[in-house]
Amino acid sequence: MAKKKLNVGMVGYGFMGRAHSNAFAQAGHFFDLPYQPVLKAAAARNGEKLKAFADQWGYESTETDWRKLVERKDIDLIDIAAPNDMHLEIALAAAAAGKMVMCEKPLGRNAAESAKMVEAVEKAKVPNMVWYNYRRIPAVTMAKQLIDEGRLGKIFHYRAKFLQDWTISADLPQGGQGLWRLDASVAGSGVTGDLLAHCIDTAMWLNGGIDKVTAVTETFIKERHHALTGKAEKVGIDDASLFLARFDNGSLANFEATRYARGHKALYTLEINGEKASIFWDLHDLHRLQYFDHRDEGRTRGWRSIHITDGDHPYMGKWWVPGLQIGYEHSFIHQVADFLEGVGTGKSAAPDFREAMATDLVTDAVLKSSATGRWESARG
Ligand SMILES: NC(=O)c1ccc[n+]([C@@H]2O[C@H](COP(=O)([O-])OP(=O)(O)OC[C@H]3O[C@@H](n4cnc5c(N)ncnc54)[C@H](O)[C@@H]3O)[C@@H](O)[C@H]2O)c1
Repeated sequence: MAKKKLNVGMVGYGFMGRAHSNAFAQAGHFFDLPYQPVLKAAAARNGEKLKAFADQWGYESTETDWRKLVERKDIDLIDIAAPNDMHLEIALAAAAAGKMVMCEKPLGRNAAESAKMVEAVEKAKVPNMVWYNYRRIPAVTMAKQLIDEGRLGKIFHYRAKFLQDWTISADLPQGGQGLWRLDASVAGSGVTGDLLAHCIDTAMWLNGGIDKVTAVTETFIKERHHALTGKAEKVGIDDASLFLARFDNGSLANFEATRYARGHKALYTLEINGEKASIFWDLHDLHRLQYFDHRDEGRTRGWRSIHITDGDHPYMGKWWVPGLQIGYEHSFIHQVADFLEGVGTGKSAAPDFREAMATDLVTDAVLKSSATGRWESARG
């Protein structure tokens, strides 16, 4: 029997527009899903570039105004892969039109925006999800399984870093495609909302809620040429952000993100130390999970480097044969698969908007603490 079609309306054709389009195109090939996603229409303002994108990825049609996309009767799902300042307006309109909504992270530029989006999707009762894709890298999902099975015992420490080096040059402008990340009015914040949001989402998924934080942030380059206004303008984002946190379970954490760590491109690492065992994961070696179990026999005890490629590892049974790796793009494919599975069963796949708002409350607290110099509640 032919599968029910689910028509996707994509907003944005940049980095994430491509990652998501690939995920919608691939998910049904590898996962047995209740719906077949159809790349129905893509929206962005530049008609020429949009058309080239639509042709390359196989979209049936285009709209140069996202509002037209949202109004279309033949669209079931709006996927927001546009910069952060667009998320709120598009999500509210999509929910009001009764569409399912998938939104890129961070959900809002701050938790106040996120709260409006949560209210809108819950009022409209539409399936919703935020693209915190790192949860669905099989090694990270495996870490979650080991923690939930109690293998680590009581957790003492959580440590996460997300290090990059691409904004060190003072000649780099702010504003425009890709560089909107350097413009605080569009991005909301700098590395706190961009990079630490990922670390915080994974952390709360693995280790529970964060109670309070104390932070320090810095803007190393105070003024940059703005690509859209043509003028030198004050830089409002945080270039680096470091914070300490206390989790509800009593564990202590430190988080660090920067775009000034020369030599590092996207070094997302996390380590969790428990009473019985520890876990370490590194995005640059994403198919491996490092695991140390103190219960192993003493003479051979040590860190195991588990190659997460076997059929009984999360998601891997759907891919190739044991030993063959998958990559970054697959985390998005897994997210589409889980979302559609959820639509089929009537249960939202995590994180939904409400769950993702908790991350924005933490990032708000980080920015507040860096201004006040005090510990701040991570619950608003
Ligand atoms: N999950 C992840 O790992 C991850 C990675 C990168 C980016 N993101 C998030 O994805 C979102 C997009 O980031 P990106 O890197 O793809 O940015 P990008 O600059 O590469 O692409 C942004 C796209 O949005 C479109 N756009 C901008 N304004 C628009 C408007 N008014 N109407 C319609 N389209 C418009 C642009 O044309 C462009 O195609 C951001 O929220 C970002 O934080 C998430």
